[in-house]
Amino acid sequence: MIDPGDPSAAHPPEGVAHPRTIRSFVRRAGRTTTGQARAFEALGPTYVVPFQPTPLDLPATFGRTAPVILEIGFGMGEATAHIAALMPEKNFLCCEVHEPGVGALLKRIGDQELQNIRIVQHDAVEVLGKMLVPACLDGIHVFFPDPWHKLRHNKRRLIQPALVALLASRLKHGAYLHCATDWEPYAQQMLEVLRGEVMLRNTAEGFAPKPEYRPETKFERRGLRLGHGVWDVVFRKV
Ligand SMILES: C[S@@+](CC[C@H](N)C(=O)[O-])C[C@H]1O[C@@H](n2cnc3c(N)ncnc32)[C@H](O)[C@@H]1O
Repeated sequence: MIDPGDPSAAHPPEGVAHPRTIRSFVRRAGRTTTGQARAFEALGPTYVVPFQPTPLDLPATFGRTAPVILEIGFGMGEATAHIAALMPEKNFLCCEVHEPGVGALLKRIGDQELQNIRIVQHDAVEVLGKMLVPACLDGIHVFFPDPWHKLRHNKRRLIQPALVALLASRLKHGAYLHCATDWEPYAQQMLEVLRGEVMLRNTAEGFAPKPEYRPETKFERRGLRLGHGVWDVVFRKV
C-alpha cells in the first residue's frame, strides 16, 4: 500500500533498514532519440524542475501566477501538449519517471513553442508529498495510469485511498481530479476509491462524459482497437 504521507517511509530511524516502498512504476529502459536528446540539452534547463524535498514556489517556477494543473504520468506527453496549447492561461506541472517520455514532451514544447509546462522527472507521489503544499492545485490529470492487471500487482495502482487523500489535500476547494482508464476493473476501482474520499464529490452520476479537452491518446486508441472501453472519472474538492 502506498503511504506517501508517512514521513518515516522517507526517513527511517537510524540503524533501521529502509522499508520497501511499493511504487506505481518500474524504471523501463527506453531509447531516447536524437531529437529528444537535443530537446533535453536545449530546453531541459528551462522546463525541467529538479526534484526537491521542500515546497516549490509555483509562481517563481512558471514565471507567473496562474491556475496550476498537475499531471501524473504523462507518458510521451501527447495529451499534455495538446491540453497546454488549448489552455495557455493555465500552468501545467507534469510528472513522469520515464526519461524518453520527458525528452518527447520537451521536444513537443520546443516544436509547439509552449510556455506553460514544467516537468518534474520524479515519482509523482514524492512530488505531491514534498514539493506541493495543501490546497495549491486547480486540477489534477491522471490519464491511463498503469493498470497493473495481475491481481498480485494491483497494490501498485496509483488510485488507492492513501494517494487519493493526498491528491485531494493538494486541491483547492472546487478544484478537480480527472482520471481516465481503458481497463474496466481499474475504472471501477477509481470510482469506488474516489467516492470513498470525503474531500471529493462526483461531478456525474457515475462515470463522466469525456471532457472535451482530453484528446484521444495512443494508449486510448490502442485500447479501443483491442475492444476495451474508456472511462473518465471527474470529481471536485468540496
Ligand atoms: C500507461 S502510461 C500512460 C501515459 C499517458 N498518460 C497516456 O495516456 O498516454 C503511464 C505512465 O505513468 C508513469 N508513471 C507511473 N507511476 C508514476 C509515478 N508515480 N510518478 C510519475 N510517473 C509515473 C509511467 O512511467 C508511464 O509512463
